[in-house]
Amino acid sequence: MLKPEVNELLTRTGPQSPMGELFRQYWIPALLAEELPENDCAPVRVKLLSERMIAFRDSDGRYGLIDEFCAHRGVSLWFGKTGNGGLRCAYHGWKFDVTGQCLDVPSEPEDSIFCSKVKLTNYPLVKIGDVLWTYMGDPATTPPLPEFEWVHVPSDQHYTSKRWQESNWLQALEGGIDSSHVSWLHSGGLNSDPLFKGAKGNQYNLNDLKPHFEVADAEGGLFIAARRNAEEGHYYWRITPFVMPSFTMVPPRGDHPVHGHFWVPIDDENCWVFTFDYHPVRPLSADELQAMKDGYGVHNQYVPGTYRPLQNKDNDYLMDREAQKRGETFSGVWGIAIQDASLQESMGPIVDRTKERLVPTDTGIIKARQKLRKSAEALRDAGVQPPGVDPDHHRVRSAAIVLPTDLPFIEASREALTATPGVAQTSV
Ligand code: FES
Ligand SMILES: [Fe+2]
Repeated sequence: MLKPEVNELLTRTGPQSPMGELFRQYWIPALLAEELPENDCAPVRVKLLSERMIAFRDSDGRYGLIDEFCAHRGVSLWFGKTGNGGLRCAYHGWKFDVTGQCLDVPSEPEDSIFCSKVKLTNYPLVKIGDVLWTYMGDPATTPPLPEFEWVHVPSDQHYTSKRWQESNWLQALEGGIDSSHVSWLHSGGLNSDPLFKGAKGNQYNLNDLKPHFEVADAEGGLFIAARRNAEEGHYYWRITPFVMPSFTMVPPRGDHPVHGHFWVPIDDENCWVFTFDYHPVRPLSADELQAMKDGYGVHNQYVPGTYRPLQNKDNDYLMDREAQKRGETFSGVWGIAIQDASLQESMGPIVDRTKERLVPTDTGIIKARQKLRKSAEALRDAGVQPPGVDPDHHRVRSAAIVLPTDLPFIEASREALTATPGVAQTSV
């Protein structure tokens, strides 16, 4: 349970809000590289942290993220035309480059220097892996680029999708660190989903519905461990890293690719869920890739031509009561991603955390909120750089591991939780 003012602090990410300032300390995923597939392609509207912008790729392949609205009289530059090193507004032809600098005001005399004095807000946009990343903070404190393993493995070893979720970012992230719902909500998928099935760990998951949670501090955030009974004298641990501000990884299953999420606020009532799968040491197989594109695992199907899930709140997520009755799905909703999204959206755009009744399986969520709050306050009050900005903090992995009951999980799995190039994930 939170006080109303703490819920406000944690959920609001617009300009000048404490959590908004926190998010503006990091490189965050802005869009998928596939959205700007070639030089001078169509510009794309991007809303992040309640700011509306336009992303485009110029004639030389440079990426830019600039204010959506033209400096002249506020028209959306989405209607504009890319070409000859810039984006030209559709209304009166003013032209801007990827840094937001105005290059041409056609109505001005040839020798006018007026356009050199006009510049739109701009943020850097950098391609790493399948993702275009941006940094929306003070240019003077731009941190080094992100080092998350999933975007640095060779391109045939990873796959990234994104989906629009109609809820605040925090309740979405909280699902990513809440391992206890897996044995319930996703129980139908563990033995049937092509990207989950067959792992020995699934049986531990399904056999022990009372996981015990332990949380350890990490340099960049937390390691959240769910402990379930395994064979005599052993525990099965599923360990989820949380890297500030909103990166989480699902513990692996067998030799399946490892997956995870980056939860990025669009505004206070919507977020982008960037969803990835990668294998640290081998290419993804054609079958695995196809399954991801078909919406299995933690991915989803789409309304054609959009990043909105095909199953969404307007169609009750294509709820199938018969499948629920037969036990094929626990909630009647197909697919792990939309099972999560449907319940998180059902809480309302910003869940009222003053009414919660938390239990010990919510320990990870409680600690993550504390970490976020403390970091936002330390930044606001004393300018302290938050955890997770340093790229060293990104080199973590999730792990699934069976350990003797007397071993503390954090000491026994240090290596497993470190992203080491060329070394396979630790998985059961
Ligand atoms: S509003 Fe863009 S050129 Fe006039
Ligand atoms: Fe889930």
